[in-house]
Amino acid sequence: MKINIVYATILGTSQMVAEELDDALSDKYEIDVQDILQISPAELSGDAFYVFISSTTGHGDMPDSAYDFVAAINETKANLSKINFAIFGLGDQGYADTFNMGSEKLADLLKGAGAKQIGERGLFDASTLDMPEDIAIPWLKDILAEMSELAEVG
Ligand SMILES: Cc1cc2nc3c(=O)[nH]c(=O)nc-3n(C[C@H](O)[C@H](O)[C@H](O)COP(=O)(O)O)c2cc1C
Repeated sequence: MKINIVYATILGTSQMVAEELDDALSDKYEIDVQDILQISPAELSGDAFYVFISSTTGHGDMPDSAYDFVAAINETKANLSKINFAIFGLGDQGYADTFNMGSEKLADLLKGAGAKQIGERGLFDASTLDMPEDIAIPWLKDILAEMSELAEVG
């Protein structure tokens, strides 16, 4: 299965998580890592499984790099009904009122355009001592294992 990992970052942590996922899974899957800045919704392909990684900035906002992608979905009323995706958010519980709302908004936008979310949104809290990839890698492996079980059941 082809996996396209798309990251939206401010300070680079989400990009680092995307690259760590690529390293951890590329022996089993064909993986492509892309900055959300460089893709348009029209390019999303039903042949790939998408993994979005997004941090939160401002007051519960998606990173600025997601702006054009979000605007294109809204302006073109994109139909993403062929797209299956999982999403992992990076945030900080220090921002308790808006914790991880960037990834929540991105998930809602994709679902609103018809895409299907697989698994629960993964969440990283930067106020802990955890490394984000230590949360993200098992999270994605679990989702992929569930998907392959479902495929076997048919
Ligand atoms: C200016 C600024 C605003 C932020 N606002 C939020 C927020 O509203 N909610 C949240 O959960 N995290 C917030 N964060 C925390 C970041 O999302 C978190 O540090 C994340 O790991 C950064 O990932 P990145 O390097 O990929 O951008 C904010 C961080 C900064 C620097």
